[in-house]
Amino acid sequence: MSANRAVAYIEPGTVEVQTIDFPTLEVKDGPGVDPANVGRRCPHGVILKVLATNICGSDQHMVRGRTTAPRGLILGHEITGEVIEAGPDVEFIRVGDIVSVPFNIACGRCRNCKERQTGICLNVNPARPGAAYGYVDMGGWVGGQAEYVMVPYADWNLLPFPDRDAALEKLRDLTMLSDIFPTGFHGAVTAGVGVGSTVYVAGAGPVGLACAASAQLLGAAVVVVGDFNTDRLAQARSFGCETVDLAKAPLTDQIEDILGVPEVDSAVDCVGFEARGHGGGEAPATVLNSIMDVARAGASLGIPGLYVTGDPGGVDADARIGSLKIRLGLGWAKSHRFMTGQCPVMQYHRQLSMAILHDRVRIADAVNATVIALEEAPGGYREFDSGASRKYVLDPHGALTRAA
Ligand SMILES: NC(=O)c1ccc[n+]([C@@H]2O[C@H](COP(=O)([O-])OP(=O)(O)OC[C@H]3O[C@@H](n4cnc5c(N)ncnc54)[C@H](O)[C@@H]3O)[C@@H](O)[C@H]2O)c1
Ligand SMILES: [Zn+2]
Ligand SMILES: [Zn+2]
Repeated sequence: MSANRAVAYIEPGTVEVQTIDFPTLEVKDGPGVDPANVGRRCPHGVILKVLATNICGSDQHMVRGRTTAPRGLILGHEITGEVIEAGPDVEFIRVGDIVSVPFNIACGRCRNCKERQTGICLNVNPARPGAAYGYVDMGGWVGGQAEYVMVPYADWNLLPFPDRDAALEKLRDLTMLSDIFPTGFHGAVTAGVGVGSTVYVAGAGPVGLACAASAQLLGAAVVVVGDFNTDRLAQARSFGCETVDLAKAPLTDQIEDILGVPEVDSAVDCVGFEARGHGGGEAPATVLNSIMDVARAGASLGIPGLYVTGDPGGVDADARIGSLKIRLGLGWAKSHRFMTGQCPVMQYHRQLSMAILHDRVRIADAVNATVIALEEAPGGYREFDSGASRKYVLDPHGALTRAA
């Protein structure tokens, strides 16, 4: 067991499956690794055999060349696996446990972790608060679109599943706990969704669909999903959402047709900075402005969609540093609250795992989870980038194929 196959970012539009070193309980130098993290020892970490690892819209920002991700960066922050080695300081996680890994890396010791803000841990990324596996500017922790990966602070970060057989059987659903299900749920919770809410979800990608399913789980009366991608809108309708095709008519008119009023109680941005405007071109602030438009006065706006501080492909000089034309006056006039940032996965993953294990939600079907081999990752990235209405799940050891 000295080698490890893993998905690497090569250049805009290209990823490649490469052979890399087998992980150890230490951060080694490599593409994207913060020099101040090199040599960091992780006796509190574990090595996982990766059983499921998903391709995310967040990966696409890097693979489209819209970030400063370096060549050779090993991708993958959505990881579920089996513990095959535990460091000497790991007390409660055991070899053989099947575990979900929150995409946020957190120490469990700093002020923010103590306040459950694990998306902005102060001790895992020398460059800024917050870290993730396989992501630009996120500390250089090696990604988990791989056969094996190291996870630090294992007792704190990992969610072990109580029953091994049940976990393996529901792996296609449980794999969504590492990111998109909690992220979509966080979007809905921070937008104040509850029993009887009317909700607008911008974006019918996997995060938007997970948010829509979450809003249903939270008791929303009507969930309206908007996108330009008709296949993805059909996917949203497959589990009971209303949809708006943004190419057709103004958003508020379509909301009024559905609800009888041109506004909703809660609105969520599940698109981010690569948003398309109505003219077809990119308009990075358009979703932020449209959710302010459509949300009632007094609403909270959930903004899991990602915004960056550096975008080499930005539409203008402002956008290249993440400075967008947001109509804040409108949000101010309506007393809107905004919630942005990484989803603190740990606040939600245990509850959502229970909802999955006890059949309260069918998240894999909602996002059209599609299992492919690790070696097929380049094709999965291409199809996802072309707008396929699928959430690609890589199966490095055949566990998902066996479960099916
Ligand atoms: N905050 C977090 O912790 C977190 C976690 C995961 C993903 N994300 C982010 O969430 C966003 C969505 O992720 P995804 O995997 O679903 O990505 P995705 O790219 O598959 O989906 C985005 C969808 O938005 C649609 N879209 C574009 N412009 C639009 C507009 N003006 N109105 C409505 N829809 C529009 C696209 O057609 C696409 O279907 C990304 O920005 C991703 O980086 C954030
Ligand atoms: Zn993700
Ligand atoms: Zn911390």
